[in-house]
Amino acid sequence: MNREDFTILKDTNMVYFDNGATTLKPDVVRDAIVNYYDKYTSSIHRGDYKNSLMVSSMYDEAREVIRNFINAEHPSEIIFTSGTTASLNDIVFGYFKHHLKSGDEVLITETEHASNVLPWFMLAKEMGIVVKYIPLNDNNEVTIVNLNTVITDKTKVVSIAHITNVIGDIRDIKEISKICHENNIMVVVDAAQSIAHTKIDVKDMDIDFMAFSGHKAYGPTGIGVLYGKFNLLRELTPLEYGGGMNAIFNKDGYVELKDLPDKLEAGTPNIEGVLGLTESIKYIDKIGIDKIHEYESYLRKYLIDRLSELDFIKIYNKDNEAAIVTFNLDGVFSQDAAIYLDKYNICVRAGNHCAKMTKDVFNVANTVRVSLSFYNTKEEIDLLINVLKNSKNIWEEIL
Ligand code: ALA
Repeated sequence: MNREDFTILKDTNMVYFDNGATTLKPDVVRDAIVNYYDKYTSSIHRGDYKNSLMVSSMYDEAREVIRNFINAEHPSEIIFTSGTTASLNDIVFGYFKHHLKSGDEVLITETEHASNVLPWFMLAKEMGIVVKYIPLNDNNEVTIVNLNTVITDKTKVVSIAHITNVIGDIRDIKEISKICHENNIMVVVDAAQSIAHTKIDVKDMDIDFMAFSGHKAYGPTGIGVLYGKFNLLRELTPLEYGGGMNAIFNKDGYVELKDLPDKLEAGTPNIEGVLGLTESIKYIDKIGIDKIHEYESYLRKYLIDRLSELDFIKIYNKDNEAAIVTFNLDGVFSQDAAIYLDKYNICVRAGNHCAKMTKDVFNVANTVRVSLSFYNTKEEIDLLINVLKNSKNIWEEIL
C-alpha cells in the first residue's frame, strides 16, 4: 500500500524489511522538515516575530496531534524527548527513582529491549530495587496466569513492551493494566514497536507511562514521546535543567519551574523532529492504523507460510502475531545471511537486536529478522523466498 508516497521506494529495487529498526519516511515528512528550514526557520516560544510565532503554534499543535492519536486526556501529557530510550530513562530516573524504595519489585520480561532493561538494572544497583521476570508461556508470551504467579506485595511496577522487537508477541496491555491496578502496581509500556502497527488508546488501556520513537513510525530520528498520566508527570523530576523549562531563578539559587509540559523539555527542542513527527502521525492516521494492522497481519501470514516451505529455515516465532518474523538458515550465521540477502538488495536485520536476554529464550544468540510495513508486498516476499531457495552457494557469494 501507498508505496508512491515514498521517494526512496521509487526507481529502486530495494526490498526494505528492517522496519523494526527504523521505517522509511514518506515525502510529507521530508517536506515538513525541508519547509521548516527553507521557509520559516526560527526557535519556538522565544521570538516575537511572525516566523517564530507560527512555528510555536505548529509545535504546540503537534502535542494535540499526538494526544489525539493515542487518546491521551490532555496535550500536556505528551512530552517530546529524543526517543524511546530517553523517555524510558526519564520514567525510571525521573519518576521511579523518587517513588520506589529498596526491596520494591519491578517486573519485566526476558524479551525486553535493552532500553527497558538497563535503566531498571541501574536503578537496582543504585537503590536496591529488585528486577524480576514475568515467566513466558511456551509461545514466549506474557499471560495473565503467569503474571499473577510473580506478583507479590512488593511488586510496584510492571514495565513491558507492547510488542517485543524479536519475538513480535502483542501483549494484552488492557488486561495486564487491570490486574496491575487492582494490585496497586504501575504500568510502563514500551510502545516503540507498536505505535505504527496497532491501535493504542492509553485511556482504554489505562497506561501510566508510555514511550515511543518517531523514527519507527515514519517520522524523523532523534524525536520521541514520553506519555504519562498528568498527575504522574507532575511528580516526575526533570533530568535536564536549562532554558525554556524554568519560570524564574535568581542569584540566590531560587528556582521555580514551569508547569507541564515545559518543565520536562529543557533547552531548544528538536523542532524539525516535532514537525516531522506530526506529519508522520497524521499520515498514519490518514491511512488508518486498523487498516495497517490488518494488511501487515495478512503479509506476516504469507511470509510465515512461504518460509515454512523451506526445510532449511528455522522460524522462532511462527505462532506470534506482530509483523516481525525471526529465523535462521541451517548452519548459517545470521549476519552472513543478511550480507547474502543484501547482495539482492534485501534489507533485514541480523544479530541479537538489542534484546540480549532473548538468546536464553530461543537458545540461540543471533537471528535474522524481517520486520514488515504496509509498503511491503507479497512480491517482495516471493523474491526473498527465491533468493533464500538459491542460497546453497551462500559462501561463494558473500566471500
Ligand atoms: N530497537 C530497534 C530494533 O529492534 C533498534 O531494531
